[in-house]
Amino acid sequence: MKVGIIGCGYVGLTTGVCLAEIGHYVICVDNDVEKIKKLLAGKTPIFEPGIEKLLKKNKRKLKFSTNIKEAVIGNDIVFIAVGTPSNPDGSPDLSYVESVSREIAKYLDDYKVIVEKSTVPVETAQWIKITIEKYKKNNNVKFDVVSNPEFLREGSAVKDFLYPDRIVIGVESERAKRIMLKLYSKIKAPKIVVDTKSAELIKHASNSFLAMKISFINAVANICELSGADVEKVALGMGLDRRIGKDFLRAGIGYGGSCFPKDVDAFIWIAEKIGYDFSLLKEVKKINQRQRELFVKKIEDSLWIVKDKTVGILGLSFKPNTDDIREAPSIYVIRSLRQKGAKIKVYDPKAMDKMKQLFQEIEYCNSPYEVAKNADCLVILTEWDEFRGLDLAKVKKLMLQPVIVDGRNIFDPETMQKFGFIYKCIGRS
Ligand code: UGA
Repeated sequence: MKVGIIGCGYVGLTTGVCLAEIGHYVICVDNDVEKIKKLLAGKTPIFEPGIEKLLKKNKRKLKFSTNIKEAVIGNDIVFIAVGTPSNPDGSPDLSYVESVSREIAKYLDDYKVIVEKSTVPVETAQWIKITIEKYKKNNNVKFDVVSNPEFLREGSAVKDFLYPDRIVIGVESERAKRIMLKLYSKIKAPKIVVDTKSAELIKHASNSFLAMKISFINAVANICELSGADVEKVALGMGLDRRIGKDFLRAGIGYGGSCFPKDVDAFIWIAEKIGYDFSLLKEVKKINQRQRELFVKKIEDSLWIVKDKTVGILGLSFKPNTDDIREAPSIYVIRSLRQKGAKIKVYDPKAMDKMKQLFQEIEYCNSPYEVAKNADCLVILTEWDEFRGLDLAKVKKLMLQPVIVDGRNIFDPETMQKFGFIYKCIGRS
């Protein structure tokens, strides 16, 4: 099939590359000239395992352009995969979705399925349809709007796309349903075909539920600290109950990234707008914020006076295997400690270039050991494998004080004690 994709972010690019991998002809469009230049040269603008390999492998089936017209004319399916950032009141900014819908309308030459891939509030498909109807030049041409939410995770995006738990397709016509099922026929996964509103809600409900699981276990972690229990053991015991499940029960510094914080906000906002006070989700958000504050307090408590102390930070990305720092806890931690006068040294295997655009006045190091040198405290914010394999004896020797505050529970407290560290982690002692 011939597919146009508008928006080459994590979702759009992964969708384009993976659809080419399963046999389709794809043109990916973005208005960022630099991004398209890179892609034309066979390079990815993002760090995501597997993407570059698929890009090279499928280069005959993949095209890139800055011209939106090319994503529409002559294609069977057009994906909208543009950003939906948060407004200050938590509502999603859908202006990109709107303007892209208008552009699509302009070039609609024949029947097409327009797929809403960006994460959007319930009822957006309806608005896309109204917009295209209003602005289309050729009154006789027909189209369908489909909601096909994406569930890929950064760091494992390709695998998640090609081997998903399920594919959700929200349609309002048999014709669109047939086309979407054909598009995904090579992917073996349950295909859930529902109405567009239910599909839109599945996405927000899924992300919010996962965020709720994380906030729940983080609240339990705080109770573990106060009572002397161990959250890792509690999570194991809970997770083996199949009704609960073991995933997303890792206690830590709280969730970040471009999805959970934004989607929780958007779900609270849309619920309110249509008449429901989603107080449970408001608490999920509060717990997540409090978790960061409690973590910074742990660092402060271990330093006594923060001013002029050197804090070494390992891990900047919001999670491992990505260079993405959007809503990363590291930003909050660095900002708080700098406000209190600490000197900050950092290291991350992939995210330092992005962080340099936010903070110029902190020290960027070439290795975890360089960070540890003369540090009063070492802080772990991302669970990169590289940190699990650290030579702890060497780290201890390099530090001014052997204090590690671990926001991801990557070490065993007993082992750390044996090494002579003062080791503070989340929900266990
Ligand atoms: C999330 C969802 O997992 C995807 O299914 C969804 O498609 C995506 O959002 C999206 O809406 O586009 P992502 O944000 O890439 O994916 O990353 P996750 O692996 O879900 O992690 C999110 C945050 O939760 C990270 O900060 C991670 O450190 C944190 N987390 C995750 C925990 O603190 N504990 C856990 O047990 C799991």
